[in-house]
Amino acid sequence: MPTPHKTDRAGRPAEDARRAVEDAIWAPSVHNTQPWRFAVRGSRISLRADADRRLDVADPDGREMLISCGAALYNLRLGLRALGDEPEVTLLPDPDRPHLLADVEAVPGEPADERTARLYAQVRRRRSHRGGFRSGPVPGTLLAALRQEAEREGGRLVQAVDAHVAGALAALTDAAEHVQRCTPAYASEIARWAPSPGTRRTDGVQQGAYPRQTPRTEPHFPARDFARGQGWGTGAPAEGEEPGSTDAGGEEAAAAGVVVLLVTRADGPADWLRAGQALQAVLLRAAEHGLSAAYHTQALQVPELRAFIRAHFCGDAHPQMLLRIGVPDVRELTSVRRPLQDVLIEEP
Ligand SMILES: Cc1cc2nc3c(=O)[nH]c(=O)nc-3n(C[C@H](O)[C@H](O)[C@H](O)COP(=O)(O)O)c2cc1C
Repeated sequence: MPTPHKTDRAGRPAEDARRAVEDAIWAPSVHNTQPWRFAVRGSRISLRADADRRLDVADPDGREMLISCGAALYNLRLGLRALGDEPEVTLLPDPDRPHLLADVEAVPGEPADERTARLYAQVRRRRSHRGGFRSGPVPGTLLAALRQEAEREGGRLVQAVDAHVAGALAALTDAAEHVQRCTPAYASEIARWAPSPGTRRTDGVQQGAYPRQTPRTEPHFPARDFARGQGWGTGAPAEGEEPGSTDAGGEEAAAAGVVVLLVTRADGPADWLRAGQALQAVLLRAAEHGLSAAYHTQALQVPELRAFIRAHFCGDAHPQMLLRIGVPDVRELTSVRRPLQDVLIEEP
């Protein structure tokens, strides 16, 4: 929980900045690549993209890399606010340095308000979900609150209210997943970011982060192939199940949850950073109410399918994320992060 507002600020900005970076790294990132670097100098924090961690095959333009960094930026801002600092953010401050994504100046501000404190409490509790949701509707007032969070950050949530639209998005995800599994370059990129059990790595999607058996949902949104037929993942094998099988077989389908697209008006680096901040605002607000999100970005990584989704389901906006939201039907999964010293440079 945030500390109370400090009256004596002398010597504190650098400490606050460091603590906010500790919060920032708990953002979600595509395949848990954690494609960010931070530099702290006094009360100024700069956020850079770490292009060595970009997915060259699935994300050649760095769109998802910047969405991930945008989510980290949201946490950074929230962490500062929770400490009673006001973050003054300049996005993309230097056109000659495209990897410098934001400069953030922490200036003394007001004590954290209720809303900030409640969202902040979710920063390290939030986890990505990979599976089904409990049946039952998500209250309309809560969905409206999620929409508001997205809009506050410059994004928009488009809900697939019509079952045919949700079904079409599931089918497009299935097509993209098929393409990615059959294309060696995609498949080896996934393999690079899904290390085998027992790894000492502190990045990537590890076996504690996905279920051993992927529950079927209705409509069915296939999961990423992190286990690659090796039987990895959490949860005990079902009786009589084949060791490499990840299909939950004849079990009754679980609910898919509320299907939403997060969209932005334009589609450049600043929009991707906004999308990431909107994503994190939505995720934290959802977590506050016991909801989790499952991500299915396969179709958005295949340019033709992304264009199709834009044309048919987004009006004229640009789809950035496809999410299912609901109350998870299994215990929370785990995730790892790189230590702070690997991502933070403290400048004198
Ligand atoms: C831009 C972006 C795309 C993502 N796409 C997927 C996806 O297609 N499938 C999936 O299971 N998780 C996806 N994720 C979730 C990440 O794998 C997850 O954030 C990461 O493994 C860290 O775990 P955590 O969110 O539980 O902390 C995505 C996250 C981001 C930010």
